[in-house]
Amino acid sequence: MDIKALLSKMTVEEKLAQMSQFNSNCLDKDSDGGVTGPARSLSLTEADIAATGSTLNFKGADEMIRMQDEHMKQDRLGIPLLFMMDVIHGFRTIYPIPLGVGASFDPDLMKRLSEMAAKEAAVGGVQVTFSPMVDLVRDARWGRCMESTGEDKYLNGLMAKAAVEGYQGDYSSKYNIAACVKHFAAYGAAESGRDYNSVDMSEYSLYNDYLPAYKVATDAGVDMLMTSFNLINGVPSSGNEWLLREVLRDRWGFGGIIISDYNAFREMKSHGFCADDYECARAAFKAGTDIEMMSNCYIKFGKRLLEEGIITEAQIDESVLRILALKDKLGMFDNPYRAASAEEEKALFLCPEHRALAREGAEKSAVLLKNEGVLPLSESVDRVAVIGPFADVGMIGFWSCHGKESEAVSAYRGMCDALGEERVSYAKGCDTASNAKSDEALLREAVELASRSSAVVLCLGEERNMSGESNSRADIGLSDAQKTLVREIARVNKNCVSVLYCGRPLALADIIDDMPACAVMWQPGTEGGSALANLLLGRCDFTARLPMSFPYTVGQAPIYYNRTRTGRPAHDEHAIGKMYSSHYLDCPNGPLFPFGYGLSYTAFETSAPEVSKDSMNADGSLTVCATVTNKGARDSAALVQLYIRDVVASRVRPVKELKGFERVELKAGESKVVSFEITSDMLSFKDSSDNDVLEAGEFHAFVGLSSDEKRAASFRLV
Ligand code: NOJ
Repeated sequence: MDIKALLSKMTVEEKLAQMSQFNSNCLDKDSDGGVTGPARSLSLTEADIAATGSTLNFKGADEMIRMQDEHMKQDRLGIPLLFMMDVIHGFRTIYPIPLGVGASFDPDLMKRLSEMAAKEAAVGGVQVTFSPMVDLVRDARWGRCMESTGEDKYLNGLMAKAAVEGYQGDYSSKYNIAACVKHFAAYGAAESGRDYNSVDMSEYSLYNDYLPAYKVATDAGVDMLMTSFNLINGVPSSGNEWLLREVLRDRWGFGGIIISDYNAFREMKSHGFCADDYECARAAFKAGTDIEMMSNCYIKFGKRLLEEGIITEAQIDESVLRILALKDKLGMFDNPYRAASAEEEKALFLCPEHRALAREGAEKSAVLLKNEGVLPLSESVDRVAVIGPFADVGMIGFWSCHGKESEAVSAYRGMCDALGEERVSYAKGCDTASNAKSDEALLREAVELASRSSAVVLCLGEERNMSGESNSRADIGLSDAQKTLVREIARVNKNCVSVLYCGRPLALADIIDDMPACAVMWQPGTEGGSALANLLLGRCDFTARLPMSFPYTVGQAPIYYNRTRTGRPAHDEHAIGKMYSSHYLDCPNGPLFPFGYGLSYTAFETSAPEVSKDSMNADGSLTVCATVTNKGARDSAALVQLYIRDVVASRVRPVKELKGFERVELKAGESKVVSFEITSDMLSFKDSSDNDVLEAGEFHAFVGLSSDEKRAASFRLV
């Protein structure tokens, strides 16, 4: 399609409508063709609706085809709509929440899962997913932890790239869809972990910690980027000229589409940054936001801004060309339905291949936190009790698109399928709600069942709607009813594994001692129960590691491993501090379970790391290596992690930062040498003006099995 020729035929009104996106229900008209409810409340005219560029939130192939048909009849120039959707961890076949996939430390897995999601979404009529979300998260109170791959920018970057590659591929297949990285920028740093709250941070932290993962996604060729709801340097992102034009467009060279978040234009009024919708349109135009999601400031005021000379038609054209170019890239002008097909939906949704991949995802995302000889359960175990509020529900997390809990394999179902129903029993134990109080009858039934069972799988956690957008929590522990259940069951049966279903790290310090074993399944998706059975029975091992620190208590939030060093550090991160050091009176500084931590059914050990030479220069490199040994009786895979500390620098640097990791397959008793090449890009940082700084001096390289590794090899950059 000659999109420039097409653009030349468009009126200003049509261009502004291309730059607007509305919910699918806003595009529906009544049977006489009149503008109805949602569209009327946005004061959209029939002409606006006819020329609208894109929509979101619709129900699948049939609806998409019907809507596109209607649209093509009314759009004067025959420009197809783009259909967008939050395909976050699967479309109909649901895989673990992104935080879980982060725990896999397996970008190839992320890529394959994203490919599967794209395929199902494409046949379901989607051409753009609002994913990956790469916001750095350090505060487990924030509900949107579940959407991120965790607290580390390096891991987030690898996962972002993998997701973009999985969704978009090279667009050679009709099953590829465009990706949209979000939420630019620093949305994960909402104060107090409360969603939509203000963000305030230094440019030093922005450049060093928060921006890198978005940058990796744009470098990977992501076609769209979504602005965040929050402020950056006191200016809301959708109207932030510095952020969008200077950083994103000019410095990073991002040429894709910038879309606002839902209603974020008009929220600039609530921020007190704009007085009215006219000012919202002006701020967003000046900042360079191409598409306005779910409000009508561009449509209402774009023309006036043009007439007043505040914006030029060339600027509008730039945005519209980007939108038309994506439609063209996706082949929408040749086939406005693209891959949408109700028949293919039937063939692909929940097909055995997709279920198998979802199961692999769930297995590789589960983290074993504690195991005092409970696991693996024996294949010949005779009476297994699957108990708890999440024993038969809770597999599907927030943002699950068209995924259905009823199509998911629950923990109970998974254990029944693995062992046969005659060997497995169920009791609910208590309610799922966060404020649930113990129900005596449920509790008694569960304890009685546990007392006559040979093993207990105790399924605990948080409801689906206790994490995700707008679902922040001030208390991130288990409910009182669940804690009572844990304690009462521990009294009668020690052969008990607690299994956690959650969308964030939970604070477990007050209950972990009552759990002989504990594993985190996150919200594992459609095949959660079958993955659980495979893991608990040792048919596969736990290989995932924590992508976020698990705190002792919510009072430690935000807590993350790569903190900067204080002038009065605690003498021991795991003990209560001494006077006049940076400490709490009632809790260690460090987490209960650190970033990078997780157990397997064998024990791994690493030797103290050694460097190949004492120094390197900026153009050179050196190698750090350590021997990793499988000390146990089972073959498995260790996740060996490299962290680096810059000992003295002109800016205070983190205690350590993840710079690499490698999964090493080891037979029982086997040892292997793992080596990492250190190059100077791993030693540099950003100053407050976004310049790369590389300073000579001493560095420490840690090679170990979690971020808590203490042994380091020293070298110098000369
Ligand atoms: C608001 C959310 O913040 C964003 O992540 C999502 O993509 C949009 N709504 C569209 O659903």
